[in-house]
Amino acid sequence: MVESITEHALVTHATALSSSADPASGPVRVLLQNDQVRVLSIDLKPGRELPPHRPEADLVLAILDGMGQLLVDDTIRPLRTGDLAVVRAGVTRGLRCLEGRLLALGVLTPPPGAEDHRTGAGLAWPDEPAADDPAEVIRAEHRGLMAGVADLGRLAGAAGTLDPDRLSLELEATVRFLREGLLPHAAAEERLVYPAVESVLRARGGATNSMVLDHRRIEVLATELAHAAAAPDAGRTDAVHLLQALAAVVSLHFDKEEEDYLPQLSRLGAAERTALVAALRGHHGGLGG
Ligand SMILES: [Fe+2]
Ligand SMILES: [Fe+2]
Repeated sequence: MVESITEHALVTHATALSSSADPASGPVRVLLQNDQVRVLSIDLKPGRELPPHRPEADLVLAILDGMGQLLVDDTIRPLRTGDLAVVRAGVTRGLRCLEGRLLALGVLTPPPGAEDHRTGAGLAWPDEPAADDPAEVIRAEHRGLMAGVADLGRLAGAAGTLDPDRLSLELEATVRFLREGLLPHAAAEERLVYPAVESVLRARGGATNSMVLDHRRIEVLATELAHAAAAPDAGRTDAVHLLQALAAVVSLHFDKEEEDYLPQLSRLGAAERTALVAALRGHHGGLGG
């Protein structure tokens, strides 16, 4: 056994691994080393990196916290908490943090020497390919849906004074908007967008559940409105309340989506963003809203 910070045993939380007492020690600490293996903790702040290099050492890298990018050969891969990478000896690798913090555990075998850390000489991060923006696809759909959402509130205000035939027509049009515009949009989000947001937040079974509950509530209100529309005179008071509830739930839901969730999509890798945009366009087809 040669030098390492672990003399006897080390038991700690992963996020405490590299909070070194010595700030001059840099982003890498050796936790354990012997003739066969070197185990490192790597703590990168935004803008910091382990530049591309090509050591004759196999690498196993586990992301303990945060997000960043791994260069493997000439491909940039996004990394997030819980990801694991294996890079064989002689393959170019680099690691960088763009925002937040990237905390990783690296296992290298055999322990690399000074030669192995040589950088430069054609070893550089490639330019990231331009990627489409899936958040913009959703925002554009929201813009298309907003007129219909505004109509919910407008009709709630006017329903009390409309003649029964006119009210019936307006309610039918509203139910059509909900069923053919808003709810298909919600379904596509649940299938494509929310899982992508979850993958960024790494919050299994949590981060977007409340958004799905909003969708379910909108679905129930749409069904109740359809019943009220079928009997407009009897259902006039019901219709006003349902329209008011829909207007409130939908506009708050859009606000949460646009301000809280869609920004998470910028943290996807370029290839992930492009694939998501393609899936969204394929799913929605001619859906204007
Ligand atoms: Fe939604
Ligand atoms: Fe939405």
